[in-house]
Amino acid sequence: MRILCFGSLNIDYTYRVDHFVQPGETLAADSLQVFSGGKGLNQAVALARAGAAVWMAGAVGTDGRFLLDELAAAGVHTGLVRVLETVRTGNAIIQNDKTGDNCILLYGGANRAITEQQVEQTLASFTAGDWLLLQNEINGLPYLMRQAQARGLRIACNPSPMEARVLELPLETVDLFLLNRVEAAQLAETDGADEDALLRALRARFPDAAVVLTLGAQGAVYMDGGQTVRQAAFPAQAVDTTAAGDTFTGFFLAARLRGESAAQAMAQAARAAAYSVTRRGAAPSIPTRAQAAAFGG
Ligand code: RIB
Repeated sequence: MRILCFGSLNIDYTYRVDHFVQPGETLAADSLQVFSGGKGLNQAVALARAGAAVWMAGAVGTDGRFLLDELAAAGVHTGLVRVLETVRTGNAIIQNDKTGDNCILLYGGANRAITEQQVEQTLASFTAGDWLLLQNEINGLPYLMRQAQARGLRIACNPSPMEARVLELPLETVDLFLLNRVEAAQLAETDGADEDALLRALRARFPDAAVVLTLGAQGAVYMDGGQTVRQAAFPAQAVDTTAAGDTFTGFFLAARLRGESAAQAMAQAARAAAYSVTRRGAAPSIPTRAQAAAFGG
């Protein structure tokens, strides 16, 4: 059983700022760092560092070749990422404030140049029982999801960043959702204020799917037809929360797919996500399995 992460690869331009720039304001940044990022790349790196065999598919421009080197260094198979001559690599302008919080401006670039032919050629390398991990930063998701289901792949979906088009995806193809509170509330069409009501609404909306609901400082909840597992957040001194959710996703999925219980997978994912917020950047902040296990919060 193999894992295909078909998603975005971004160059992250991370600016450290006193506060997020306001409308009409010009703000001098304290520093600029360039990191490998993109929710797809980050989750593929997290899977690999958590010990899984993972294949990345997607697209970059020629300016993004270094992202492939960083993926390969993390142990991710990169042969299914296309390098396009005429499109820039996707990028993210990230403001990182004094509290460690961030806000992100995305440019899709090559992430928005996925073709049906690439989808077909990629899926041809996978068979029934393999897993497909998706986020919401590439084009072509409806076709990709339907084709994957037709081939018998299982689908894990982290529909982030949330937007209206997510509601039009063939979500009935999804076996495992990984959601934050905002995403969950929009998918379940509730206000999300009451956690138990939100979980019930998710169960009613997706009766056949397992769900991981991440709640920041309130921890996370796993739910499937037979069990509900709660996991507290690990305490950590945050300097940069970028990719914490991606780290959680990769570590959770890697642990589940090697046969660990939902409770074990949630604990490992929470510890790895806590580690990631204590380091700057997206992919560079993701720990190895050993680093996460040794992290005390
Ligand atoms: O989840 C974090 C990621 O979101 C960043 O790496 C950035 O590229 C955006 O895609």
